[in-house]
Formats: sequence, structure tokens, C-alpha cells
Amino acid sequence: MLKKYYIRTYGCQMNVADSEIVDAILTSRGYVKVEEMYDADIVLFNTCSIRENAERTLLFKLDSVKGLRRQCHRKIVVGVLGCMGQLQGERLLKHEQIDFIAGPDEYRKLPDIILSFFEDKSHEKELATQLSTCETYSDISPLYGSAVSAFIPITRGCNNFCSYCVVPYTRGRERSRDVDSITKEIKKLSDGGCREVTLLGQNVDSYNYNGCNFAQLLDTVADVDKHMRIRFLSSHPKDFTKEVVDIMSKHANICKYIHLPVQSGSNKILKAMNRPYTREDYLAKVKMIRDVLGEGVAISTDLMCGFCGETESDHNDTLSLMEEVKFDYAFTFAYSERKGTYSAEHMKDDVDADTKRRRLDELIGLQCRHSLFRYKQCIGKEYEILVEGPSKRNQNEICGRTDTYKMVVCKSEKLNVTDLIGKMIKVKITDCTSATLIGECV
Ligand code: SAH
Ligand code: SF4
Ligand code: F3S
Repeated sequence: MLKKYYIRTYGCQMNVADSEIVDAILTSRGYVKVEEMYDADIVLFNTCSIRENAERTLLFKLDSVKGLRRQCHRKIVVGVLGCMGQLQGERLLKHEQIDFIAGPDEYRKLPDIILSFFEDKSHEKELATQLSTCETYSDISPLYGSAVSAFIPITRGCNNFCSYCVVPYTRGRERSRDVDSITKEIKKLSDGGCREVTLLGQNVDSYNYNGCNFAQLLDTVADVDKHMRIRFLSSHPKDFTKEVVDIMSKHANICKYIHLPVQSGSNKILKAMNRPYTREDYLAKVKMIRDVLGEGVAISTDLMCGFCGETESDHNDTLSLMEEVKFDYAFTFAYSERKGTYSAEHMKDDVDADTKRRRLDELIGLQCRHSLFRYKQCIGKEYEILVEGPSKRNQNEICGRTDTYKMVVCKSEKLNVTDLIGKMIKVKITDCTSATLIGECV
């Protein structure tokens, strides 16, 4: 009998890409994906562990599984995948609603693990959390969630061990995927009508496959289809090179957008975070990027406040760095202590919750002003956008992104939105908010 599964994904783009790999693995073995948990025989949660509130989400969700099991009279198998499963597997497995755990490098086993629960009624709970030094799933064609834009993992794992971060523990050592499988996947996507790919890795700039570095990889993939937009995420300031920027300027289809997480503007905090660059190094890289690619390039970042030992003066250093750079976007977080990381074991989480909250509000407030500043600079200019679909607020409006990742909404009275999905159209920007550009088709 066909078994139906439901999968819910939390966390970063890497988890989204992993769920697409899980979809491919399960459907190739006859499992059928359903969109509602209530229709499923198998319930999967692909989890995130990056901050404490990410973990709370899972525990909350498990309550609804309990409700489902009470209501329906069929067997339901529940699995926890992803980073939280990897990190907390043994503890989580004790939870009455969880049958098995599969960490990020164990997804090939999923069809058999699940089957064993249905074949053997007394099958015991199962824990699969072996990390691999070579698994990249490069031979698996993911079941993409979008026909227009796709994620392509090019590295897995992380070797950086920033002192606050769980990722090196949840995803193991860094490994790069072979160039050939990446270019073949992009060719296949291009033939299927996909218009944009995002190369993914915790630190894409440390990509290295048999001597091919990230800049060389970009150079190669940009040539696969000159009309395919190429994006990449995330760049670590210590590894991001001028060679990459030069390749970006050589290819029109490589989007002029760089996500370059700085975390803090204080050299003392950067050192404590084990981020091996200084504020000055970072500002020099931003200058280099803008010198080569012009002021039109978009730069975004991740910022963390309230890390161990962060004083008001350190926090002000972050605000002043923001002033200097004026990021297009920033993802802002308050430090959340994660068991097992260096900072949790050896440093004191000494910034109180109220201060973290207030500092976070200050980061968000300042970023809002800077985003508005950047968006306002676009007014009166023309851009190409890749149409994603109707806007959420109004079905008669088109939404799509510029190559700098700015969301544009424009009226489409004379145009059919559905026909335009996946097409590049030219728009003129007439107005903006701090999150959206408003335009008209030209
Ligand atoms: N590999 C990426 C980041 C992945 S995690 C990079 O190094 O840029 C995404 C962001 O979550 C990080 O940039 C950081 O700002 C935030 N983050 C990670 N661990 C955190 C923690 N313990 N508390 C709060 N924020 C955290
Ligand atoms: Fe975490 Fe640092 Fe690796 Fe990013 S680079 S995933 S922040 S350890
Ligand atoms: Fe991503 Fe969360 Fe894991 S941010 S790598 S899913 S801990």
C-alpha cells in the first residue's frame, strides 16, 4: 500500500534544500507526499537548532501529533530530521511522540527506517545520527519546491567553529560537492525552465573540489546558461576574495548581491566569537566590493547582539559599523546560548534579557532606516525583475525580485500574472517602503 508522508521544514535554506532531497529519496521508493499532516501516515519534522526558540517550535508541534494520533485510527510514524535531531537525538527519542531520528547525513536510510515500523509492529525506536565526511547527495535530483528558482547545495557542514554556533556539531565537517554534478544539475534545471539558482553553503567561499575554488566554480556555472540568474549564500568575510568579485563583474547573470555576515562591529567581540577578521578588514572588503561592482551592489549581513561580554561600547561599535556600511538588509539576532558550543562551556552569558531585547530593537530600528535609504535610491530607475507570482496582498499585482534581491510589486492590469511567472520583465520604480519597491511595467 502507498504510504503518505508529510514533511514540515524549519530553519535555513540548507534545510529547505535537504527536505527537497528527502522528497526525492522517499518518492523514488513509492512514498507519496501530502500537504496536510492530517492525511499522513508518516510525519517528518526537519528541524533547526540554531537558537533556543527554534527548538521550542518542535516541542509545540509534537503536541499536535499527539492530537492526531488520538483522533485517527491508523498507525502513524513520526520522525525528527535535521539539526535538532542530530544534536539532541538521544534525549528527543525518549519523547513519547517520536519514533525515530535521522540526522542530516542519514537521509538515504529513511525509506528503510520508515518501512521497518510498518512491517514490524513492535519495531523499537531508531536513532540514525552518524555524521559523514563525504556525503553530499550529489547523485540525487531534488524535488524542487519552485519551478522558477532552485537551491543547490555546493558544500555541506562547517569547519569554522564560531564560538556561539551549533552548526559544526549538527552538520559535521565541511565537504564540497563535485563541479560536474553541480553544472549538470544547473543544465537540467535550465532545460526545465528554471530561471534562478542559489548556490548554498554555510561558507560558500571555502568551496574547494580537487583544486577548483569558489571563484572558479562561479565562473563555470555562470556559463551553463547565460540567462540563468546565479545567487550564492553565505559568504564568510575571512574567505571572501576579490577573485569572486571580479568573476561577479565578468558575468551579467551573477546577481550583484552579497550576503556577508559580520555579526559584530567590535573587534573584542569578533575575537570572542572566533570570527577571524576585524572591523577594519570587514570595512575594507565592503569598500573593495563597491569599488569593483559600483554602489548598485547590494550587501546584506547577519548581526548578533548580547554576546558574552558585550558592553554598551561594543554594541555602539556594531551600530557605527552599520552606519558606515548602510546594509541593504540585515538579519538580526539576540545571542542564545547553545549547549556544547565553546561559548556555552567557557564563557558567561552575562548580558541580561532586557538589555539583549533593547539592543536588538536598536539594531532593527537602525536597519529599517538603512533599508529605506537603499530602497529610496532605486526610485526613478529601471530594473529587470524575475516574476515570482501575484503579490500576496493583491492578486492583480505582480511580484518579483531585482538581481539585488529587492522585492518589487507592480500593477498588472493589462497583463496576465500567471503567464508572466518565471519571466524577466522590465519595471520602473515609482515608490517604496523599507521592505518593498513599488513599480510599473515598462
Ligand atoms: N554560516 C553562516 C551562518 C549560519 S547561522 C555564516 O557564518 O554566516 C545564521 C545566523 O544565525 C548567524 O550568522 C548568526 O548571526 C546567527 N546565530 C548563530 N548561532 C546563534 C546563537 N547561538 N544565538 C543567536 N544567533 C545565532
Ligand atoms: Fe556557524 Fe560560524 Fe559555521 Fe556560520 S561559519 S555555520 S556561524 S560556525
Ligand atoms: Fe540551518 Fe538551523 Fe541547521 S540554521 S544549518 S537548520 S541549525
